[in-house]
Amino acid sequence: MRSVKIFAPATVANVTCGFDILGFAVHQPGDEVTLKRKDSPGIIIQEIKGDGGLLPRDINKNTASVAIKAYLDHLKLDCGIEIFLEKKMPLGSGLGSSAASAVAAVFGVNELIGRPLSPMELLPFAMQGEFEACGEAHADNVAPALLGGFVLIRSYNPLDVVKIDAPKDLFASIVHPQIEIATKDARSILKKSLLLKDAVTQWGNVAGLITGLIKEDYDLISRSMEDVIVEPVRSMLIPGFDQVKSAALNAGALGCGISGSGPSIFSLSRSSETATKVANEMEACFKQLDIICDVFISPVNQEGPLIIS
Ligand code: HSE
Repeated sequence: MRSVKIFAPATVANVTCGFDILGFAVHQPGDEVTLKRKDSPGIIIQEIKGDGGLLPRDINKNTASVAIKAYLDHLKLDCGIEIFLEKKMPLGSGLGSSAASAVAAVFGVNELIGRPLSPMELLPFAMQGEFEACGEAHADNVAPALLGGFVLIRSYNPLDVVKIDAPKDLFASIVHPQIEIATKDARSILKKSLLLKDAVTQWGNVAGLITGLIKEDYDLISRSMEDVIVEPVRSMLIPGFDQVKSAALNAGALGCGISGSGPSIFSLSRSSETATKVANEMEACFKQLDIICDVFISPVNQEGPLIIS
């Protein structure tokens, strides 16, 4: 194979209570990466479109090339790879933009050389890309982008990742207000220690959310979508967060929270109709504050990356 084009999806990390350990993939938006074999060894970024010139072209700094390099080094391969990256999602949006590029890249190079590794085995290399982008190799965007569906990171050391069956009629409504928050900054403002009572509340919610997903118990999912640790700090970075969240819940969402490190806000609903109504109400709230936003409505994406050509 000389060339391959891959789509990798956006993801909602944390899913309220599961900071750094829970995430799910959606169908849109996402990034497209084309990889071409070249005869001489080495990785080159030939083109990046849709980033407004903001992403690094240096192969040691770009999340896609860093992921590919980690993969090739691991397999001790000295292939020549040209990268063409098409950003089809906003940067700094809390939708796993850097993860989508890293996943598309590492999934693509694995296809190019005959698929020696499984998607799960590709995860550490995609995490290297995430490390380059935000200084920490969290996996709650890369894992769902790579594996599809809802994913739990049970442990980072050793890496232990579990895909969770989510109900088929669960729909996400995502609104992305056009302000940018760098994940690095949103991580730096978090408290470094917790009250035990908050940790107990959060453990209960994480366990409840996962049990709710597995048992398709929507009331339990709804009761568990509460974050008493990260949201109270980060929501201050998002103008109108409280109003948008109330609007989503009043419109029938099961739960609502910050997508990843923000500023996108996501809700989960039990049907596509409710998800549409919820998205409209969330958007209307931002409009009242004169904040323009993108809106995405999607079921949980069970597949992860797609081979386009
Ligand atoms: N879990 C990470 C964070 C996700 O919230 O910082 C970043 O998209």
